[in-house]
Amino acid sequence: MNLDEIDKNKLPSHVAIIMDGNGRWAKNKSKSRLVGHQKGAETVDEIVTVAAELQISYMTLYAFSTENWHRPQPEVSGLMDLLVNMLNKYIKKLHDNNIRLLVIGETDSLPPKTRKKLADSIKKLQQNTGLTLILALSYSSRWEITEMVKSVAQECLDSQMNVKDINQHVVSQFLCTKNIPDPELLIRTSGEYRISNFLLWQLAYTEFYFTDVLWPDFNRQDFLKAIVDFQKRERRFGKTGEQLNK
Ligand code: FPP
Repeated sequence: MNLDEIDKNKLPSHVAIIMDGNGRWAKNKSKSRLVGHQKGAETVDEIVTVAAELQISYMTLYAFSTENWHRPQPEVSGLMDLLVNMLNKYIKKLHDNNIRLLVIGETDSLPPKTRKKLADSIKKLQQNTGLTLILALSYSSRWEITEMVKSVAQECLDSQMNVKDINQHVVSQFLCTKNIPDPELLIRTSGEYRISNFLLWQLAYTEFYFTDVLWPDFNRQDFLKAIVDFQKRERRFGKTGEQLNK
């Protein structure tokens, strides 16, 4: 499969990915889980590069969930260090590829070193106009929705908003993904068929693509295959096929 097989006029504007299977990949090779995450980081580089090449506008990667804090401490700190190392290693490439960086999640709970590196990287890349890469870090959708409810309730208490004015647009504006279009395609690797507390509001009309490939083995070909599969689908948004074809 190559880029010619992709219809440039039917690209998903936003691809979200649940990068799963690093641990199993490592176990299969009798290596530590962190080795799996390190190999997974190389996959991140490969897939972000091809997304930028295709001129996809947004890519959101589920890199660390709120629940991941409960993993063994060495794995958690290893992942936090890996993120800093990745940003050091790839910042120039991200910049050269015109990629902008954003983070969604409860970033206050990240270690200071990680927070600082993220803030510096976001600043360095903020004027870029190509792919927007969004890292979901210490993110969970139920956390995000709870925070949204608190903010909207506070606005009402402060008389900044009327309860009757709350609508879907207002809700969207109080989520972490404010001003980011909803994903059109969600990819989950490693043969698991779950959403795992990821973008529950934003995935309402998203097309799902599941593959058995473990994230460290997922490559450019696998990504292009997912895009081609997406392009074959008819997205109806609740309407009938006939209504769409009028
Ligand atoms: C899921 O695999 C993967 C993660 C929890 C971490 C994802 C991180 C990377 C791809 C590396 C890049 C790192 C950062 C922080 C951006 P798993 O460990 O749940 O795999 P398993 O289900 O096979 O155990």
